[in-house]
Amino acid sequence: SAPERLTVSVVGTGYLGTAHAAGMAQLGHDVVAMDVDAEKIALLSACELPFFEPGLGALLRKGVESGRLRFTTSYDDLAGAGAHFVCVGTPQAPGSCAADLRWVEAAFGELAARLTGPALIVGKSTVPAGTARRMAETVRRITGGDRVEVAWNPEFLREGHAVEDTLRPDRLVFGVETPRAEKVLREVYRPVIEEGCPVVVADYATAELVKVSANAFLAMKISFINAIAQVCEATGAAVLPLAEALGYDDRIGPRFLGPGLGFGGGCLPKDIRALYSCAGDLGLDEVAAFLRQVDVINLGRRDRVLALGRDLLGGSYAGARVCALGAAFKPNTDDVRDSPALAVASAAQAEGARVVVHDPVAVDGARRLRPDLVYADSILTAARGADLVLLLTDWTEFENLDPAVLSPVVRRRNMVDGRNLLIPARWRAAGWAYRA
Ligand code: UGA
Repeated sequence: SAPERLTVSVVGTGYLGTAHAAGMAQLGHDVVAMDVDAEKIALLSACELPFFEPGLGALLRKGVESGRLRFTTSYDDLAGAGAHFVCVGTPQAPGSCAADLRWVEAAFGELAARLTGPALIVGKSTVPAGTARRMAETVRRITGGDRVEVAWNPEFLREGHAVEDTLRPDRLVFGVETPRAEKVLREVYRPVIEEGCPVVVADYATAELVKVSANAFLAMKISFINAIAQVCEATGAAVLPLAEALGYDDRIGPRFLGPGLGFGGGCLPKDIRALYSCAGDLGLDEVAAFLRQVDVINLGRRDRVLALGRDLLGGSYAGARVCALGAAFKPNTDDVRDSPALAVASAAQAEGARVVVHDPVAVDGARRLRPDLVYADSILTAARGADLVLLLTDWTEFENLDPAVLSPVVRRRNMVDGRNLLIPARWRAAGWAYRA
């Protein structure tokens, strides 16, 4: 049944906030989404996404045109809503492994100062355990009572799948301290819950930890298969059929067992670091060491891919022309935060190569982050005259590459497939030295 039409606010219009705001409007609520970045708000108000995300543009347009979704740069416009979702970023703090909470603190403070009636402020950002409790204390201090409550409702959406993950999540986690807060959240998500989405109700700290544990587990799965890949390389075993065989055990499962260049992005790397730094602060040294190795193995993959390329070039990148295919941290996104692809491209250039990068959508973001690299708007332009091709992001466009098309434009047929994306026999048959 249609939910009671609620007025909901969303603070922060990054991937998470924009997807959440458009999703809430799709569920039938009146949504006002706010960001301090006026440029972003102008774009969103005009139904334009400030980033690439399949399907989200259509949902945004639908929300805006239905009149249920609007955007603002002012906290004052949020005061009338009953539930407020805080979706601001918690990046890795400069010079540390911990999460930077300044945006979360600002959002809770600004909201609390403006809410005059009963309301619920719901944190969705990924935060270390203990943050929700502190935010609840801040809100109580500012509002002088318990009229405004706090809940934590972590978000598990994946970039590239934001719409489906928002409308059909695997589970909902409600970190709440009162039945009233739980009731509001159940009402907000009623259509999702009625479709069978499981709800886990827990205390604040548990809800906060579910999120980082989920990301840490995914990161661990990737680093596990990458550790085994190293054993495979050293013993002559083949990691792809090995991973396939592991995946048939449904206690293990086939997903996130893709060996290669490893994980990046705005979430997995920072979350694993925040968790081991938090474990260290708690004196849990063995836990911290265990989680730290996940990061160490992952970063080591970048050196390994670089080394495979160096070998094919005869021992040095100096003077070589390198074509880097991929800049985004994974396919179907233009996100280049902590991108293994860009890290490898930059490292090759630092060793003396002239690197030309192509990515189907992430070139603009990459250019802003690494202006020292050269960018090309097609695969063939990037590959022209190359001594080595490094395949660094697993875009379908690259998977479908035909050696017959690439062979005539490169200078030397050297391919390092950092994502195990291509069929080796096909490239070798076309005269390529292929390493993965
Ligand atoms: C991740 C989680 O998957 C989401 O559930 C979570 O909500 C989100 O972080 C977040 O914290 O906001 P995302 O960062 O979009 O989502 O990226 P993933 O799809 O998890 O991919 C992470 C990285 O792992 C990518 O660089 C990808 O190339 C790599 N990966 C993935 C592998 O190297 N091997 C695999 O088998 C799978």
